[in-house]
Amino acid sequence: MSVRTHAGHVVDQFGAQASAYVTSAVHAAGADLDRIGALIRTMPGARVLDLGCGGGHVAFAAAAAGAAVTAYDLSGEMLAAVTAEAGRRGLDRVETRQGAAEALPFPDAAFDAVLTRYSAHHWRDVPAALAEARRVLKPEGLMVVCDAVAPEEPLLDTHLQAVELLRDPSHVRDYRVSEWRTMLAAAGFAPGQALASRPRMEFSSWIARMRTPEIHVAAIRALQTAAAVEVTRHFSIEADGSFLLDSVLIEARPH
Ligand SMILES: C[S@@+](CC[C@H](N)C(=O)[O-])C[C@H]1O[C@@H](n2cnc3c(N)ncnc32)[C@H](O)[C@@H]1O
Repeated sequence: MSVRTHAGHVVDQFGAQASAYVTSAVHAAGADLDRIGALIRTMPGARVLDLGCGGGHVAFAAAAAGAAVTAYDLSGEMLAAVTAEAGRRGLDRVETRQGAAEALPFPDAAFDAVLTRYSAHHWRDVPAALAEARRVLKPEGLMVVCDAVAPEEPLLDTHLQAVELLRDPSHVRDYRVSEWRTMLAAAGFAPGQALASRPRMEFSSWIARMRTPEIHVAAIRALQTAAAVEVTRHFSIEADGSFLLDSVLIEARPH
């Protein structure tokens, strides 16, 4: 029986793979990053917080758009990789800070924008993290949540959470868009425009990034093979296990 905490799982899973997240094609580009860059360009001199920065792609997009960025993550190894990559890119307005999204070490109203991408599905307590984001955001500030999302249909939702958890013990939940809207509203945000996308998860690199044990890979493949046709069609599951992952970017403002 494991005695590791959830935060321990996150740090173990991501710390060892920091450079893989800096170079990951899935993470390094996308319409969501383009949208973040466009939004930040409309906010001259913005101070931006990137929650769960991972390999730093949101931080780099915001810094390239003119912001001063704090890249924040549980994993010190991720933050070291972000500092090194920011230096390579000549981005000198990216600083790092280590900690949990659920307890932010920043004063009230410290940031013009709080951004998070492909991290929240690992958080133990999303409502607490959103309340913290609301606290550190200026009243007229911008909150952007990007993450993998579950379809609203329980059949599809359950399949997605099952393969995600088999792949990665630090997975908590890909929330539905309806759940995100409810949680954002409860934390004091008015959720607005959403941008949906369906990036393709190439199976071998998807499991390699998380060092998924062979026995879990076999279980994922067994679930995919046995899945109902509604599931295989929705996720466009391919012969090698590659599939499309529903994702969303939601823009929200304090209300
Ligand atoms: C997939 S990576 C993020 C990718 C990155 N944001 C991007 O856009 O490329 C997930 C990151 O979330 C971090 N993380 C997970 N749970 C966290 C928490 N509760 N607080 C802060 N960071 C967390 C992990 O350490 C990991 O670096």
